[in-house]
Amino acid sequence: MASTPHAAGSTAPGTPGTPKGLVDALTEALERRETKSARRRLTILPQNAIDFSSNDFLSLSTSPAYRNRYLAHVNNTPEFFPFASGGSRLLDGNSAYAEELERFVADFHNAPTALLFNSGFDANVGVLSSIPQPGDLILYDELIHASVHEGMRLSRAGSRVMFDHSCPTSLRAALGEQINNDPKIQSGARNVFIVIESIYSMDGDIAPIKDFVKIVDELLPLGNGHFIVDEAHATGVFGPRGAGVVQEFGVQDRMFIRLATFGKALASHGAMVLCGPETRDYLINYARSLIYTTALGFPFLASIRTSYELLSSGETESLQRRVQSLIGHLHTRLASLQIRQEVMFEVDHFPNSPIFSLRTSQPRELASFCQKAGLIVRAIMPPTIPDGKERVRVCLHAGNTEEEVDTLVRTIQSWLDLVPAKRDANL
Ligand SMILES: Cc1ncc(COP(=O)(O)O)c(C=O)c1O
Repeated sequence: MASTPHAAGSTAPGTPGTPKGLVDALTEALERRETKSARRRLTILPQNAIDFSSNDFLSLSTSPAYRNRYLAHVNNTPEFFPFASGGSRLLDGNSAYAEELERFVADFHNAPTALLFNSGFDANVGVLSSIPQPGDLILYDELIHASVHEGMRLSRAGSRVMFDHSCPTSLRAALGEQINNDPKIQSGARNVFIVIESIYSMDGDIAPIKDFVKIVDELLPLGNGHFIVDEAHATGVFGPRGAGVVQEFGVQDRMFIRLATFGKALASHGAMVLCGPETRDYLINYARSLIYTTALGFPFLASIRTSYELLSSGETESLQRRVQSLIGHLHTRLASLQIRQEVMFEVDHFPNSPIFSLRTSQPRELASFCQKAGLIVRAIMPPTIPDGKERVRVCLHAGNTEEEVDTLVRTIQSWLDLVPAKRDANL
C-alpha cells in the first residue's frame, strides 16, 4: 500500500485522543516561536539595497581586485584540473594546492601550522569535540558562538563552566573555584581550555585577551591553561594586515588554537585552525567534522588563496582604513540623534568595531522601517542573543559611502520621530 505523507502518529490532526503526529509537533514549535516573535525566516535581499548587514566587512566579494585575481587563479589551471575535491581530506580530497595554502595562511598568521575545515562551524565542532580529554575543564565566555556550544555538547571534558562576558574578574573567580575543587587541575594533570572570541559577532566588542592571559598564567603556573580563540569576525579586519586581534596584541605564542574563518571579511568560505603540528595531526585523526566530510574543492581554495594574497601584499590595508574612517563617521552621526526621553533607544558601540548595536524595544519595527527605505539592517532577537538584549545590528563595509551612512542615520531619526505613539501603546 502506498504510504501517505504524515502517516506516522496522527493522520487526522485535531481528532480527540489521537496521538499528535510529528508534523503537528513541529508546527506547534514554530507557533511557539511565532508567539514570542522569535520565528526565523529565510529572506532574500532586494538587489540595489544598501548593505549594512552582511559580514563582507572589506566589501571584497564585489571588489574588482578580488574578482580579477581569483579569475586569474582559475584560468591558470591546466586543462582537466579537477575543480571538485573528490572526497574527504583523508581520502581523495587532499591536494598539493590545499597543503600549500595551509602553509601560506599559517605563515601569514605567524602560526606553526594551519588545518583547513569546510567552515568555522565545522572547525569549532571538530576542535571542542575532540581535543579536551576526559576530566578536562572548559571555561567559556557566556556569549560564545553556537558552534562552540555544539562542540562542547560532543566533548568528553569533565566540566564546562561559563564566565561572564569578557569579564576578567569572573574568569578569575570561575577558574579559582575549579582549581580549589579539583586537585588534578592544580597539579597540572588536567587541562583547562579557555574559549573566547576575539571580537564578538553581535556586540562587536574586543575581548580583554591580555588580561585573561595574565590571570591564567598566574592561576595555572604549570602551563595547563590553553586558550582557544575564535577570530571569525577579526580575520581580515583587525591586526597587522588583517591578521587578527591576537596578533595585534602580540600574544599568538600564548594561544593554543586560533580560528580564522573565511566566510566573512575574506569573501570566501571555510576556516583554518592555527595550531602546533601535534595538534594539527591529532585533529586529522580525531576531528570527525574534518574526517567525515567532502573537502572544499578548488574554487573555494582559490578564493581563500586570493584573499590571503590580497591581505599579505597589503592591498587590503586601504580597505581596513576605509572601514575605520566610516566607523568614526557613523559613531559621530549616531551621537547626534535626537532621542525623545520616553523612547527606549541606545547605541552600543565598541571603539573601532564595524559592528554597531542599536538597542530598542522594537527592533523588528526599526529594521523594517530601514528596509523599506532600501537599507539592509537586521533585527537580532533571542535565542540568537540573550532575552532583553534585542537590537538592530548594523555592520559597516569598505564599500559603504558617507552618504549612505548619512541616509541610514536620517532614516533612524525619522523612525525615532514617529515611534513614541506606537511605543506608548505597548507600555
Ligand atoms: C564567532 C563565530 N565563530 C564561528 C562561526 C562559524 O563560521 P562559519 O560561518 O565559517 O561556519 C561564526 C559565524 O558564522 C562566528 O560568528
